[in-house]
Amino acid sequence: MKTDDHVKVGQIIDRHRGEDGTLLPVLQEVQEVLGYLPEEALVEVAEGLGLALSRIWGVVTFYGQFHLSPRGKNTIKVCQGTACHVRGSRRILDKIESVLEIQSGQTTPNLKFTLETVRCLGTCFLAPVMMVNRDYFGKLTLDRIEGILNQFCKG
Ligand code: FES
Repeated sequence: MKTDDHVKVGQIIDRHRGEDGTLLPVLQEVQEVLGYLPEEALVEVAEGLGLALSRIWGVVTFYGQFHLSPRGKNTIKVCQGTACHVRGSRRILDKIESVLEIQSGQTTPNLKFTLETVRCLGTCFLAPVMMVNRDYFGKLTLDRIEGILNQFCKG
């Protein structure tokens, strides 16, 4: 972790020290600032709040909202629920994996994309569907994938 990251983590801990039920908000804020929860930050949180590191690990591995490795700037969620599955979502996922050269659950080395699968995005009428950050892309076809991903490569 960089020096300013240590400072930021220290400030977050100081702001919450002494409050009840402080662990979750501290972890959420640290993740918001650093983008994920590196082990060094967890050690600092444990020491700063006077908690056992094993307790912190228990929390961060229990809640799906916490990420223990760096995340891409853009998160792609490809639906693999039933409605999407019957409309070819597996092939959509294969195509994205091949374009980005990563598997579901991984992040590209340039930290542009993290690829995930989900069970239903709640928009089955758009099947097959994926989300990139907050944008939905429905009725997907293989030939649209590269164009969609390119929109998020700029900047
Ligand atoms: S199954 Fe894909 S959006 Fe519901």
